[in-house]
Amino acid sequence: MDFQQNAAETTCHSRDGNSNQADRRNDKSYALAVVPYDEDKLSPFHLAERRFRLAGRELVIRQSWRELGVAAVVWDAAVVLGEYLESEVSLTDQTVIELGAGTGLTGMVAALQGAKVTITEREIALASLRSNVETNIPPGTTRHPVVIQELTWGQNLHHYPTSFHYVLGADIIYLKKTFQDLLKTLVHLSNCETVVLLGCKIRYERDTNFLKMLEEKFEVKEVHYDQRRDIRVYKAGSDMYWRNERNK
Ligand SMILES: C[S@@+](CC[C@H](N)C(=O)[O-])C[C@H]1O[C@@H](n2cnc3c(N)ncnc32)[C@H](O)[C@@H]1O
Repeated sequence: MDFQQNAAETTCHSRDGNSNQADRRNDKSYALAVVPYDEDKLSPFHLAERRFRLAGRELVIRQSWRELGVAAVVWDAAVVLGEYLESEVSLTDQTVIELGAGTGLTGMVAALQGAKVTITEREIALASLRSNVETNIPPGTTRHPVVIQELTWGQNLHHYPTSFHYVLGADIIYLKKTFQDLLKTLVHLSNCETVVLLGCKIRYERDTNFLKMLEEKFEVKEVHYDQRRDIRVYKAGSDMYWRNERNK
């Protein structure tokens, strides 16, 4: 699966497979490279546990790449979007829904900021999501209880209201076959005051194509770029939302 291959690119690669031995002996860093390692095992996705300091708390996330793949590991976009929320968005008592939440890191940051959060995922990944959320923010420890619910994009949308203040998504633009359903879901969940915040790693042309589809329904702006992790945060809203913003 090309997306998983791309994920593996976040580990270290030797780029000079053909460089000569003398060059290598002169390069002090080469000594480090001769230590045998299994590149696959070095990926952060293969760690059973990862720790993040966000919203004034240490969040400990259990990962299980082998069992659930993309839905059970923390993607950089989730961390960057969490940091963006923490520093740029005031969420107290705001209604928030997170789509394709994976381990739920971003939604947890919103909950810790005092939002009324619904964290959603596909059925298959709900147990892992629930376990991470309940371990980090046990019931009764946030201003509002966190709701965890199944939401497969494009399906049973009538179960969800259209009154959210914020719709969040971290690294959810990656599968072309889901684009129409994802867009339909974003449109359904939004009213003219809703803000959609998407943390994105733009890997392929198709990802940019999704942003063009998004621009047919919303006005979209890039509001943040994390250069180190190459993650962009896009903010999408109605014409009315942006008009009000400009008049502030
Ligand atoms: C790359 S992962 C990102 C996970 C998490 N947001 C993060 O950034 O750590 C993409 C997520 O989208 C979810 N997803 C994929 N297709 C979906 C669909 N049709 N409906 C709902 N979620 C979906 C996957 O289960 C997965 O958790």
